[in-house]
Amino acid sequence: MNPATLAADFRARFGAQPRLFRAPGRINIIGEHTDYSEGFVLPAAIDRWCLVAAAPNGLARLRAVSQTFGEEMEADLSALAPRGDWADYVAGPAKTLLEAGLAVVGADLLIASDVPVGAGVSSSAALQVAVTRALLALSGLEADGVQVACWTRASENRFVGMPCGIMDSYASANGIENGALMLDCRSLQATPAPLPDDASFLLVNSMVSHRLVGGEYRQRREDCEAAARTLGVPTLRDLAEADLPAALRKLSGDAAKRCRHVVSENARVGRAETAMAAGDLAALGALMNQSHASLRDDMEVSLPVIDQLAAIAQATPGVHGARLMGGGFGGCVIALVDSAAAGDVQAAIAGAYGAVIGETPEAFVCRAVAGASEVFA
Ligand code: GLA
Repeated sequence: MNPATLAADFRARFGAQPRLFRAPGRINIIGEHTDYSEGFVLPAAIDRWCLVAAAPNGLARLRAVSQTFGEEMEADLSALAPRGDWADYVAGPAKTLLEAGLAVVGADLLIASDVPVGAGVSSSAALQVAVTRALLALSGLEADGVQVACWTRASENRFVGMPCGIMDSYASANGIENGALMLDCRSLQATPAPLPDDASFLLVNSMVSHRLVGGEYRQRREDCEAAARTLGVPTLRDLAEADLPAALRKLSGDAAKRCRHVVSENARVGRAETAMAAGDLAALGALMNQSHASLRDDMEVSLPVIDQLAAIAQATPGVHGARLMGGGFGGCVIALVDSAAAGDVQAAIAGAYGAVIGETPEAFVCRAVAGASEVFA
């Protein structure tokens, strides 16, 4: 993932000097399955990137090579259509910009990434944000990070067909160094939330890939929309915790559970922001544990093996709290750990969970970084 190496690979492949763009993956400290109800989330961009080398090709065509998948795609800009794999995250942003009326030029792209795929850290948003940034720049167009996030989400919703919210693309496009973003997914206003000095976020991959569960995610979203319709509110974001008892009397079954999750999770995000600002790691960790329980019991997006991983993490000395992160049904658990003990904590969790699944899980401590940008090799 060296920019100079990728630029050299690009020259060898396409015979031109590329510009380089990168977009990070993301963690989410808390605020899960709330973005598509226009609620609150607390994500941070992390030091894992999708890197794109790109140059105009003078043809009205998109040609892309993925080093990650060892595959290629090529299509006319006028005939971009989904093909059901990684190439949709390249063609989708191009099509979205064209549909916005922008004069996007034909381009060659070489793509590399160290954002783990299927781990719930938004490798797909990172790819789409990087491609969007590259295509805009090569076409001589400018856009701010919020606009880039909106286009990227539109690409994922309409071209890829995944009904995700704004969190992933927003964090990848607008992340800040050493901080999380307290994002209101209705107004799309974000407030910087500095991370604690003495604590770190550790990701441990459950090693269950979450890629096959678009249907479950869509169902959760529909459940939330149905609950909001029953309650006569635009989205579940419009309910405060104090409204919950009355709301739950009007709902039953899954709708009631989803509503309780979204309303309580939105409240937890606010409390987490306060705890983080006060450096209260115990309070922040407790909120993360509560979030996990709510995702397991009310949103029902966990799996037994992920509950085991979260329980192992929560019981490990040096951990303040841990929870399933991202859409669920696989991916990573995020743990808030004392920085001084991070190495030992990582080894202890990886060892105990590794014994459960029979392989060593991928695990890493991450650093919060700035959002997508051009890079200069
Ligand atoms: C996935 C989606 C996000 C968000 C999370 C759950 O990562 O892409 O928009 O809904 O799940 O919080």
